Amino acid sequence: MNKNIAVIKGDGIGPEIVTEAMKVLDKVAKKFGHTFNYEQLLMGGCSIDANGVPLTDETIERAKVADAVLMGSIGGDTNTSPWYKLPPDLRPEAGLLKLRKSLGLFANLRPSVLYPELRAACPLREDISAKGFDMVIVRELTGGLYFGKRLTETVNGVTTAVDTLSYNENEIRRAAVKAFEIAMKRRKKVTSVDKANVLDSSRLWRKVINEVAEKYPEVTCEHMLVDNCAMQLVKDPAQFDVMLTENMFGDILSDEASMITGSIGMLASASLNETKFGLYEPSGGSAPDIAGKNVANPIATVLSAAMLLKYSFDMDKEADAVEKAVSEVIAEGYRTGDIMSEGCKRVSCSEMGDLIANKISCPLC
Ligand code: IPM
Ligand code: MG
Repeated sequence: MNKNIAVIKGDGIGPEIVTEAMKVLDKVAKKFGHTFNYEQLLMGGCSIDANGVPLTDETIERAKVADAVLMGSIGGDTNTSPWYKLPPDLRPEAGLLKLRKSLGLFANLRPSVLYPELRAACPLREDISAKGFDMVIVRELTGGLYFGKRLTETVNGVTTAVDTLSYNENEIRRAAVKAFEIAMKRRKKVTSVDKANVLDSSRLWRKVINEVAEKYPEVTCEHMLVDNCAMQLVKDPAQFDVMLTENMFGDILSDEASMITGSIGMLASASLNETKFGLYEPSGGSAPDIAGKNVANPIATVLSAAMLLKYSFDMDKEADAVEKAVSEVIAEGYRTGDIMSEGCKRVSCSEMGDLIANKISCPLC
């Protein structure tokens, strides 16, 4: 197959980790007989530097006509980077939010799996990590607090800031359908996370989830309050299969879910719309402190590329080959600094990319 991939390397460690993912994709293309054409696009801080804005309309159009988007990470050090002296709508993150909205990417899938070999890097108590876990968080991505009306104003002489958490039933339903569809292909359990004891938006959320759940009688559906969920994630993460939640809760819980795998550098993500189109990026940030040092962990980006193959290109075998290659390299004891433990072999970002790419093989070729 011939496919066009828009590539947004971004800021910080973005260019390094995306280069490794492309290395792996190129190996997949070679082994499985595909052609992947890349078009590099700017978004985030690098676009501010080049174009004065974090995302141009032209970039949105270029991304839309691609078959999928592979992304690194955007943003810089919020305390020191000049990007954060700009008005909020001109900062790097505004570009990412605009891109998600413009491409209609309402469902963000963030798998969180504890590799048995990485148990030593897991910060949880040993009896908890021994049980392992394998969950996917489905985070609603284009609604809620991130996109509600916001303003800062002076009320009776007092500066006041307002952010609005708003959801309509359709936005909730389409995210829920994605979550239940995914659960049908997994262990058939959905945990929907909300704050229905306080928020109206959560009470509507729960009502709509229950309606969708009726259409999936094989799937067990449970509701959990977000504060309890934060606790359950560190107490008993093995209980989760598919976790479904709104935008802001998903942002927070997915960082927690990633950290318990040992490192945020391991976590892939896919942001999908109603079609096969998607944007694939690691869950972690741009890590400006280690940028340019060739020490970042490229695995999250490589696994995001595997999700791209699976969800946007229907290349399941190719995606499996990438995941298998990652598992093998980990099993052989190769580690970047973030997941390093005693007795393992420490490798750089590019060495990790080479190791994974060299393992890619086609079972039928
Ligand atoms: C994420 C990030 C973004 C978010 C930031 C960079 C705007 O934290 O993808 O989780 O909050 O969605
Ligand atoms: Mg986040």
